Amino acid sequence: MGKAGYRKNGIYGQREKNGDSVNMGMFEKILYTLNKKIQLTDYELTVDRNLPEDGLRIVQVSDVQSEYFGESQSFIKETVREIEPDLIVLTGDLLDRNRKDFTAAMDAAEGLTDFAPVFYVDGNHEMDISFDETRAFYAELAAAGICILFDKAHTVPVRGGRYFVSVMGLSEATVFHAHGQSGGTGRKERRRYQDASVITQTIHRLAGESGARGGSDADGASTAGDKRNLRILLSHEPQLIEYYAHPAIDLVFTGHAHGGQFRLPGGRGLFAPDQGIFPKYTQGVHRCGKTQMIVSRGLGNSRFPLRLNNRPEIVQVIVKAPC
Ligand SMILES: [Fe+2]
Repeated sequence: MGKAGYRKNGIYGQREKNGDSVNMGMFEKILYTLNKKIQLTDYELTVDRNLPEDGLRIVQVSDVQSEYFGESQSFIKETVREIEPDLIVLTGDLLDRNRKDFTAAMDAAEGLTDFAPVFYVDGNHEMDISFDETRAFYAELAAAGICILFDKAHTVPVRGGRYFVSVMGLSEATVFHAHGQSGGTGRKERRRYQDASVITQTIHRLAGESGARGGSDADGASTAGDKRNLRILLSHEPQLIEYYAHPAIDLVFTGHAHGGQFRLPGGRGLFAPDQGIFPKYTQGVHRCGKTQMIVSRGLGNSRFPLRLNNRPEIVQVIVKAPC
């Protein structure tokens, strides 16, 4: 299979869609396991907010890149279902600019609301596809009950309204604007941050708005603006951590780095987009001020179709208040 075939169908072609590893050769089976079998990564984080004693469970699915993980995305759905999450966050690159069929992305997203409220921000790949092509995709996401947060904040009740989480989303359009790129024009014109202030201004506004909408508790008292709500930000690109740090933002969920594609002995990633060789932010939890940022290695690949020592990842974060 040539390079164009990789880009169009993924390295496993139709088998990728059907989750079929039965008829593969030994080498192909090893590659399949390394690139398709999902690893669940757990983090337990402490945040001084109003949280259930057993911890709030947030699941992050990132960088699907229009690939399949099991038949009809069964590996993703089974992993998420077993966690019984309180909240699910999708942090961009559900689509891939090189794969114009959006079915795999919709198969991954649709039905997740059966498990918990789902929130979404886009990534650079969605931005690199034309607005006309993505319009129908976003309409389908919304119809599936997924809350799209393009520079918006929304407060959601969890655990039967006993707790509230304020979720903010930084759109990739704002990140592109900071880069001096309007989007939909391809990455060649992308430049380093010409005007990063647009990011900090948006973060500041979202932090102020977070908690402005929501519901009421069992006694009818408004809890939407409660400063004790957990506040999380969704944004695709981790290398912008210094702009995300804000006293009102507890956690940031990011992806984009694909774990550095190849993880070297010792656990260091080799390359990540917008960070280059030996990138700093490829996985794990990073702190800037009081803000903690989670970087998912994500699930899929883009131009380069293989991962090494870097299994596709779904992240579970259990957030607890200090004892
Ligand atoms: Fe990305």
